[in-house]
Amino acid sequence: MIVVGVAGGIAAYKTPVLVRLFAEAGHQVRVVPTKAALRFVGRATFEALTGEPVLTSVFDRAGGVDHVALAASADVVVVAPATADLLARQAAGRADDLLTATLLATGAPVVVAPAMHSAMLAHPATQANLATLRSRGVQVLDSPSGRLTGADTGPGRMESPEAIFAAVTRLLAPGDLAGLRVLISAGGTREPLDPVRFLGNRSSGKQGLALVEAAAARGARVSLVAANVAAPAPHGVEVVPVGTALELQSAMTARARDADLMVMAAAVADFRPAAPATAKIKRQGRDGLTLELVANPDVLAGLAAARRPGQVLVGFAAETGDAAAGPLEQAVAKARRKGVDLTVANVVAGGAVFGADSNEVVLLDAAGGEVARAAGSKRVVADAILDAAAARLGR
Ligand code: CTP
Repeated sequence: MIVVGVAGGIAAYKTPVLVRLFAEAGHQVRVVPTKAALRFVGRATFEALTGEPVLTSVFDRAGGVDHVALAASADVVVVAPATADLLARQAAGRADDLLTATLLATGAPVVVAPAMHSAMLAHPATQANLATLRSRGVQVLDSPSGRLTGADTGPGRMESPEAIFAAVTRLLAPGDLAGLRVLISAGGTREPLDPVRFLGNRSSGKQGLALVEAAAARGARVSLVAANVAAPAPHGVEVVPVGTALELQSAMTARARDADLMVMAAAVADFRPAAPATAKIKRQGRDGLTLELVANPDVLAGLAAARRPGQVLVGFAAETGDAAAGPLEQAVAKARRKGVDLTVANVVAGGAVFGADSNEVVLLDAAGGEVARAAGSKRVVADAILDAAAARLGR
């Protein structure tokens, strides 16, 4: 059974279309609106589309509604639209109406389709609530840009009913990576100069984490080798925290043999200080400081060399281009050189990608040929990478 939660936003006028798509696909659907949602769409509409009672409060029926039973029989709970207020109540774990009580009681996957004015979406409170929900495994759909209510345009529209339907259908289907072991490195290594300083890079780990979330959602058993990643990984994922390139290398190689798919999304430092100081390097008495660096191993090349048949290896190529070649040309050359099955070419000129929530990539095969392009949220890009990898794994 699909539980469709509806919060009180103008986008609720599109929810009956979503409900109808689910019903036509043969699903039993229970609609649980908030009180405010019923000011936008009437109870009768949802009852007619689902043939089921539509209740908003645990006290709507004599004797009370068993929100626990509703939560337990849900295969998925999808909230469309999810307003700023609903997301805040959900993130806080409140249970002051039937929808939030159901969200709190369910063990089923939860998908939310946020819809609100751009300013409310951008507010740190809403962003923090979305981050909290994501960290608990809630799938947060995009809020595309476009015409909002009134004259304003910007991000905050609800995903189309068709896109929400596709995301939920994908979630309900047995995962195409079920039974596979996926090993992903994410974040950026830090190479110590002394006990308090390091050489690092701008990688936030967000694309790697999106890959972890997507692979887990698609049924894989996921291990994450996390180099200084700030956000938590979803429940059920094995997390191996590492600091330096050498630590990352030993964590990856130890797990590589068992992996069906390996993705090197981490930004690995190519060089490390030759002899990190054991005590803090003091400024006093120095006019300058010269560091001697030694090369780190190329972890990806090592994984490629030790790869067994059937294993799929994905590398990233973060290129800025230079006077001699454009970023894509550089990525194609790297794809050919590294001997990996797929290269995710990422154009990072100007630092636009680091820490951002969206990304734009070109996927290249072992010969440097273009396989696909993907743009959108890091989750959308993650699913495109996994689509290409799954095809190579015969899924
Ligand atoms: N990588 C790695 N070990 C390193 C450096 C990079 O495993 N010491 C991996 C990255 O995780 C990424 C891929 O190699 O998947 C490409 O990383 P990138 O920094 O773009 O390339 P480099 O190999 O460092 O090549 P160059 O510096 O010449 O661009």
